Amino acid sequence: MKILLTGGAGYIGSHVLNLLGQDGHDIVVVDNLSTGRKEALLYGRHEEFNLEETERLEELIKKEKFQACLHFAGSIIVPESVEKPIKYYQNNTQNSLELIRLCEKHGVHNFIFSSTAALYGDSATNGICTEESPLIPINPYGRSKLMTEMMLEDTSKVTNLNYVALRYFNVAGANVDLKVGQCSPNATHLIKIASECATGKRPGMEIFGEDYDTKDGTCVRDYIHVDDLAQAHVDALKFLVTKKESAVLNCGYGHGYSVKEVVETVKRVTGKDFEVKITGRRAGDAGTLISKAGKIREVIGWTPKYDDLDLIVRTAFEWEAKLS
Ligand SMILES: NC(=O)c1ccc[n+]([C@@H]2O[C@H](COP(=O)([O-])OP(=O)(O)OC[C@H]3O[C@@H](n4cnc5c(N)ncnc54)[C@H](O)[C@@H]3O)[C@@H](O)[C@H]2O)c1
Repeated sequence: MKILLTGGAGYIGSHVLNLLGQDGHDIVVVDNLSTGRKEALLYGRHEEFNLEETERLEELIKKEKFQACLHFAGSIIVPESVEKPIKYYQNNTQNSLELIRLCEKHGVHNFIFSSTAALYGDSATNGICTEESPLIPINPYGRSKLMTEMMLEDTSKVTNLNYVALRYFNVAGANVDLKVGQCSPNATHLIKIASECATGKRPGMEIFGEDYDTKDGTCVRDYIHVDDLAQAHVDALKFLVTKKESAVLNCGYGHGYSVKEVVETVKRVTGKDFEVKITGRRAGDAGTLISKAGKIREVIGWTPKYDDLDLIVRTAFEWEAKLS
């Protein structure tokens, strides 16, 4: 297929690019390298520009006649979104609006969107999120993403555009063959930060809050290996092409680990100790976020292979060590 992939030089986009490239698809990546890296582009042709450049984007979409668009580009740091909301509404909401408008206008009828568990905020009962849980994001990042889902839903009702919104839970680890991994600057992802500590790149790390209503007081999250998540995009693309309908799907394993459990796992798997300080809660963090994980398996036939925290941590650590 001829595919437009935005944000392909970033963490998740590069893993999806790796799979789609191996399958022989003809891919054009639009990425301005604001947080991505050219070295992560293992396949496809790179167009280096900002999605904000609507005229250039339209020219490309019109000329290339893409059959599908996978939209990863965006700003993703929750605490930053609290400080700089406009940046998030601009890069996540406004740029997505233009992209959806242009795809619809020029006949790109299959659209996959990188959505997030942040849409649920603290709304889900006991932190278990089903796709029907109320959508009450508690930070501008989550709101900027929710509006994009709404635009897709409304557009798909009255046009030929079908979409799959994949609501990622906590994405972690690196490609099992270590071809690509996470390089995002200023990453706030727990396993990435703990791996940086284990490789000696950081002297230590903080745990933000131990007074949440969870088993040990620290936040609980559903960690999904990035290669499994990448496969969900391949499965979603097949679904769109064969079924010609839309779906909103959680991407998680259906169980969670606390921050303390993850940090202990990193120390055990890597055999490295490092300093961990407990500090106050961080703005915008929900206590527990775990996916109710059945729908994605039923609807697109996703079968994860790497539901193993030790493996997630090992790949993250080995990638981090390879980078240094
Ligand atoms: N990482 C996670 O845990 C997680 C969880 C839920 C959802 N998501 C979503 O997944 C997507 C990808 O996240 P990631 O972790 O790979 O982030 P990332 O920062 O590694 O990748 C984003 C990529 O998009 C590019 N980009 C950003 N803004 C752009 C613009 N205006 N024009 C062109 N290129 C632009 C960046 O250079 C980068 O290569 C995001 O939309 C994010 O909201 C990520």
